[in-house]
Amino acid sequence: MPDGFLGTRADLLLDLVILSLLLVVPVLLYSWSRVRRGNYGVHKALQLAVFVVLGSAVLAFELHMRQLGGIFEATKESTYAGTAVLNGWIYVHTAFSVSMALVWIIVVAGALYFFPNPPRPIKGSRAHRWMGRLGMLLALGAGVTAIPVYAYGFAY
Ligand code: HEM
Repeated sequence: MPDGFLGTRADLLLDLVILSLLLVVPVLLYSWSRVRRGNYGVHKALQLAVFVVLGSAVLAFELHMRQLGGIFEATKESTYAGTAVLNGWIYVHTAFSVSMALVWIIVVAGALYFFPNPPRPIKGSRAHRWMGRLGMLLALGAGVTAIPVYAYGFAY
């Protein structure tokens, strides 16, 4: 795997994954603002695009981590390797990421199944609104907590 472009020990794929996780955050906030103004079509298109892009990045990341022998092996050259700081961020970030993946799969599958095309609010929208808000917050949490994992794992 070629070197990354962010000037750390992380390789190209890890740099692409962290960048996509961060770029997704403003897109999600925009999608949220659109849906609150009744722009359901824009919201659907953006959420599906983010789902595909992020899903591919996460899949590539998981396969790559296996090749590298896991996150603890991949970050073993960090000065923070084995410390509570790095390990704590790894566990917090993993908790956000795993729960986000589960919630997103349920929200996207449910939305595609229950909302009409073109999308508009329906009787059972409440469940989507609450699960969707949870999914948005978990995605923001996964994006933000990826920064300390990357920094303590690959930059120091
Ligand atoms: C993981 C993907 C998705 C997330 C995280 C998400 C999130 C949200 C959130 C947070 C809201 C409520 C906004 C608010 O009142 O605060 C919402 C509303 C809505 N979403 Fe999604 N959404 C997703 C995918 C989709 C898809 C794929 C569709 C269409 C097929 C869709 C259609 C709608 C509609 C129609 C509403 C309005 C519901 C209402 O106001 O009663 N969403 N979504």
